[in-house]
Amino acid sequence: MQVIVVDTAQDVAMLGADHICRLLSKKDNAVLGLATGSTPIALYQELIERYRRKEVMFRSAHSFNLDEYVGIAAEHLQSYRFFMNQQLFEHIDIQLKNTHVPDGMIDPIQAADDYEALINAAGGIDLQVLGIGRNGHIGFNEPSSSLGSLTRIKTLTPDTIRDNSRFFSADEFQPRLAITMGIGTILRAKKALLLATGASKADAIQAMVEGPLSASCPASALQLHANAVVIVDKEAGAKLVNHEYYHWVRAETDQLIVGLK
Ligand code: GLP
Repeated sequence: MQVIVVDTAQDVAMLGADHICRLLSKKDNAVLGLATGSTPIALYQELIERYRRKEVMFRSAHSFNLDEYVGIAAEHLQSYRFFMNQQLFEHIDIQLKNTHVPDGMIDPIQAADDYEALINAAGGIDLQVLGIGRNGHIGFNEPSSSLGSLTRIKTLTPDTIRDNSRFFSADEFQPRLAITMGIGTILRAKKALLLATGASKADAIQAMVEGPLSASCPASALQLHANAVVIVDKEAGAKLVNHEYYHWVRAETDQLIVGLK
C-alpha cells in the first residue's frame, strides 16, 4: 500500500487526477471505477478542468460506480446516478451508454448479480476510486462485510444513515439499503485509489493503514491489494503513526524514478 499524505484537500484531488489521467493517456478505453460522496467532488472538478484544457479525453472510457441506493430512481436528486451525471458525466465527453451505476429500482437482487457480470464482461476495472466512511466502509460495505463479497445488497448502519441524512430533507424517504460492489469486487480492480480528507476520517485512515486486516474496518482489505494508493490530506492522515516513513518512502521512490529515467 502506498500512503501519500499531502497538505490540502486540493492536493489530494490534483494527485488523484494525475493517476486517472496517466491511465487514460496509456489506455484511452480504460474502465474506471468511480465513487460518490463529498470527497471525490474536487477530483471530478479537476478532471473537468483538465478535460476543458484538452489534457484528457474520456470518449472511449467506461465507468462503473461503486454503489447505489435501493428504492430511489435514477432521476431522484439523491440518487448516485444523478450525482455522477451532475458532478462529472455532463461536463466531459464520456459516452453515457458507457457509464454504469447499479439499478436499485426494479429487481435489486438480480441487478446486483447482473452488475458483477457486467464488470467482468468489460474486462474488469482498471482503476477504482474510493472514499472511506467514518466507520471504515468502502462503497457501502459496512463493518462485518465479508472480505470476499461480490456486488450485493447491504443494509446501511445507523451511523451511515445519519452521516448521509445531510443530503435528504427531513420529510424525504431515505433508503436503508444499497447495492454495492463487494470488497472482493473492489480487490479485483487492477489499481485502487482511496482518497480521504478532513479530521473526521483520521481514525478510519489509521485503522485502514496501520490496524489489523479485519472485516471490522472494511477498507483494511486494501492491505491485500497489490496496487493500492492512499492519498490523504494532513487532517485525515493526522493519526497515522508511521507518518515519517510514508514521506520517506515517497521521497525515495521519486529519486528512484528520476534515477531510472
Ligand atoms: C458514502 C459512499 C462511500 C463514500 C462515503 C464517504 O456512504 N457510499 O462510497 O466513500 O459515503 O463519503 P464522503 O466522501 O462524503 O465522506
